[in-house]
Amino acid sequence: MVALAAVIATAIWAMLPAYVPNNAAVLVGGGPPIDGGRSWRGRRLLGDGKTWRGTVGGIVAGALLAALLNGVVTPASTFLGVDFPSFPIRAAIGLPAGAMLGDITASFLKRRTGRERGAAFPGLDQLDFVLGALVIAALLAPGWTIRVFTLPVVVTVLIITPLLHVLTNVIAYGLGLKNEPW
Ligand code: CTP
Ligand code: MG
Repeated sequence: MVALAAVIATAIWAMLPAYVPNNAAVLVGGGPPIDGGRSWRGRRLLGDGKTWRGTVGGIVAGALLAALLNGVVTPASTFLGVDFPSFPIRAAIGLPAGAMLGDITASFLKRRTGRERGAAFPGLDQLDFVLGALVIAALLAPGWTIRVFTLPVVVTVLIITPLLHVLTNVIAYGLGLKNEPW
C-alpha cells in the first residue's frame, strides 16, 4: 500500500476502539444519569445524555472491538500490506474509556457554557473523544501510544475523525437513532 494510504489505514485501525464507544452509547444508553440529576450553579452537572449504562456499554464495546482486531491483526496486515498494531489490554481499555471521558468532559463544558442537552459545540463535538482517548491511552500505555501514534498518524486522525464523526452521526440521525445530526 502507498505510504499515505497506509498512514490513513493505520490511523483508522488504531482509533477504531475509540470510535465505537460513542455509537454504542447511543444504542445502549439510558437509565440513571452519571450526575444523578445534580445541578451546579443552576445547570445540570452533565445532563440526562450521559448515563452509566451508555458509558459502560461504550467502553465494553470499544474493548471488545480491540480484542476482535487483535484476533485478525495478522491476516489484516498481510492482506493490506500494512503493519497494523495490536492492542495491549491497557490500550484496549484506555482508548474507549478515554473516548467516553472526553465526551463526558465536553458535556460538562457544554452545560457550563449554557448549552442544553443535545446542543452542538462545533469542534469540541468532533474531537473531544479523540483527545480523551489519546490522553488516557498515553497515561495507561505510554510506550504503545508513542509507537503507534506517530506525528503523521496523529495529524491524520485529527483530519479524518471530524469527517467520519459527521458522517456517522448524520447516518445515525437518518436512521432515527439519534435526536440531532451531530
Ligand atoms: N449516551 C449515554 N451515555 C454516554 C454518552 C451517550 O447514555 N456516556 C447516550 C444518551 O442516550 C445520549 C446519546 O447517547 O442522549 C447521544 O450522545 P451525545 O450526543 O453524546 O449526548 P447528548 O444527548 O447530545 O448530550 P450532551 O449535550 O450532554 O452531549
Ligand atoms: Mg449530542
